[in-house]
Amino acid sequence: MKVLVKVVGILIALVVCLIAFVKFAMPFAENAPDIVVDKSPERVERGRYLVEHVSMCLDCHSEKQPQYLAAPYKEGTEGMGGFTWTTESIPFGTVVAPNITPVGLGSWTDGEIIRAIRTGVTKDGDALTPIMPFHEYSHLSDSDVEDVVAFLRQMKPIENPDLQRSELKIPFSVLVNVMTAESQPQNDIDTDDPIQNGEYLSKVGGCQFCHSPFDSGKPVYDSLFAGGHEYIIPNVGVVRTANITPDKETGIGSWSKEHFIQKFKAYDSPEARMIPASENPPTVMPWMDYAGLTEDDLGDIYDYLMSSAPIKNSVTKFVPAQ
Ligand code: HEC
Ligand code: HEC
Repeated sequence: MKVLVKVVGILIALVVCLIAFVKFAMPFAENAPDIVVDKSPERVERGRYLVEHVSMCLDCHSEKQPQYLAAPYKEGTEGMGGFTWTTESIPFGTVVAPNITPVGLGSWTDGEIIRAIRTGVTKDGDALTPIMPFHEYSHLSDSDVEDVVAFLRQMKPIENPDLQRSELKIPFSVLVNVMTAESQPQNDIDTDDPIQNGEYLSKVGGCQFCHSPFDSGKPVYDSLFAGGHEYIIPNVGVVRTANITPDKETGIGSWSKEHFIQKFKAYDSPEARMIPASENPPTVMPWMDYAGLTEDDLGDIYDYLMSSAPIKNSVTKFVPAQ
């Protein structure tokens, strides 16, 4: 009996130490790169393209308009933050997208912003919730992540004085410290090679993340693009991502390249940003952001998708709330 009490006591002490270690000694942040990025107009322009159309940063870091299809962000609120996820849609607690205009990031160095984007660690060394897709952005090439920062630096500063910080619940407030990423920049992509460019864009553009099925909170990359990842939209229902593998029956194997490009380009207009949500099945696919991808880049993504393994997986894309 005495021995048992001792063993249990030691086990409890070990667990407490482990929790305290994860909570207070982690995350292990990489050093922020010691760099001042080139802010020439060409670099800012590439950064704008990445922020607005590839990595869809503004889709989360602006005021959203849920009354319209795919909840496009409101013009004039770009980067000001405030969009909030509550426990109705995520398990972690309350997560708020911060202000990433110069009002929010003015005191950060260029290197600290790069580290936040690629590893999910703030200026002060705190872990960010992986709703911010830093695991995907960890693949951004050095040149691309610098261009993103060049663009952020010249965005219109917008005050957002009522903005709160995220509040995570136990155990997520501890676990978040082991969820940071490691920078793994893909600097040797041959962007003239459609498959390489398409694969890179589908990583840093979030397609791989959203369109893979999920298990235990993580994408199952063995079933790349098979779809079925669920999003709960409070009071609306459950939205599931489509199968975009080349399977002819349950994926997009029967789509031509022209049809694929057209599907995106159909949303490339101010009117498309105002399609009433009530008239369409709801979606979380940021169609309005991706509509600005160039036809060349969309074509490369198509070529890459068609080179991936066809997977039979029939997905019911929407189940309305009871
Ligand atoms: C899917 C939504 C989403 C997308 C897309 C997204 N972010 Fe975030 N981002 C967040 C959330 C949520 C947080 C705060 C997480 C937290 O508080 O734990 C955040 C935090 C940040 C921070 C830290 C700011 C601070 O004050 O701590 C920076 C910098 C940032 N994001 C930049 C970007 C950039 C640049 C992009 C595009 C390359 C981007 N984000 C795309 C949701 C997103
Ligand atoms: C935030 C999650 C999310 C991201 C990121 C995302 N998608 Fe989607 N996508 C969805 C959802 C949900 C649907 C199903 C509803 C709809 O059609 O809008 C969908 C539908 C689609 C469809 C239509 C399939 C069909 O059968 O009609 C295509 C094609 C597609 N996505 C391609 C992409 C590509 C390419 C990317 C990256 C550039 C991407 N998606 C990024 C969530 C996402």
